[in-house]
Amino acid sequence: MTVVAISKQKGLDVERVRADFPVLNQKISGHPLVYLDNGASTQKPSHVIDTIKYFYEHDNSNVHRGIHTLSQRATDRFEGARKTVQHFINAESEAEIIFTSGTTESINLVAHSFVRSSFAAGDEVLISAMEHHSNIVPWQLLEQQIGLKLKVIPINDKGELIYEEFEKLLSEKTKLLAITQLSNALGTITPLKKMIDAAHAVGAKVLVDGAQAIAHAEVDVQALDCDFYAFSGHKIFSPTGVGVLYGKRALLDAMPPYKGGGDMIKVVSFSGTEFNELPYKFEAGTPNIAGVVGLAAGLDYVSEIGINVIAEYEHELLEYATEKMLAIEGLRIIGTAAEKASIISFEIDGIHASDLGTLLDSQGVAIRVGHHCAMPVMEFFGVSATTRASLAFYNNKADIDALVAAVNKAVSMLR
Ligand code: ALA
Repeated sequence: MTVVAISKQKGLDVERVRADFPVLNQKISGHPLVYLDNGASTQKPSHVIDTIKYFYEHDNSNVHRGIHTLSQRATDRFEGARKTVQHFINAESEAEIIFTSGTTESINLVAHSFVRSSFAAGDEVLISAMEHHSNIVPWQLLEQQIGLKLKVIPINDKGELIYEEFEKLLSEKTKLLAITQLSNALGTITPLKKMIDAAHAVGAKVLVDGAQAIAHAEVDVQALDCDFYAFSGHKIFSPTGVGVLYGKRALLDAMPPYKGGGDMIKVVSFSGTEFNELPYKFEAGTPNIAGVVGLAAGLDYVSEIGINVIAEYEHELLEYATEKMLAIEGLRIIGTAAEKASIISFEIDGIHASDLGTLLDSQGVAIRVGHHCAMPVMEFFGVSATTRASLAFYNNKADIDALVAAVNKAVSMLR
């Protein structure tokens, strides 16, 4: 692995971290790149890039299928990556780690295998009002298709989940709580453990959308006791097109396959097909092998630094950024929860988010504008879009200062 920039005693050495991310070392429109769109996708360290390059140059082949050396090496790398994921989220068994194309597919797998096969009309799925579309629309589709009932836990003006309303909505009819750990639009951290325990007390299962949280907080699926946990590689310094569904073994064992095809079977015959064991039962077709190998490299990189070191550093940076941003005249932060991480969504009086985003880009500052795939959140706050700066551990105070200066300049041009 490349030299990792840490000192566990002294905290994070951000300048050394930055040197591990080649993409950061460039200019956009003559300005140093300030990359603050990590909520949409994170950048990749040299360790991930080099690992994928090495894989394609030395080990590339299909997995689980060949007797030859390259296929065995590719299989070893692929299955080794599964163990890396298992340890990263502290799953009990590697059989509980299903590789998918990303969080969206992981949630859809639960929807179309677990829910579709075991829920009846009238059974309730509980989500929050701050979910990403990928944790809303699959349930709406099942509302139409099998008659399940979708219930939504409201949020308050700070963008916090209203726990008492959650308790009121929870009942014997609740069969699944599908909840984000960290809102991509607001930065709110949900009271996950408490919610999981409450859901279990009424017999419901719990699916956690960890897409945003995975790069910002320690995840221990056994300590959480969640039934399913979904995340994507590209949000944690790893490739796009690869993700994970963790599921408790007993649940996954009882679930029918989600997709049919090669590798998910033991025997195929026209008189009947026998499915493969876990985790292969859910991995039909040739997977994103290099992506999975790259994901393991990304997780190793994060582990080497320490997710808690990262979380602590980002927390300080978020506080610094919040204070600086609030000093901008007419700026309103959308999402001011007491428990928050990595995201500053905002609007500025009289200025359209997309105009602001374009002017920020012309000053080298990459942020996201829009609804962030969370249109109900925009509706709740009465805005059509926000401008969102989302942090990663390679951002520094200079990035925040550059953002603030660029916003001030853009505002003076637009007013
Ligand atoms: N879910 C991604 C975001 O928040 C795309 O930007």
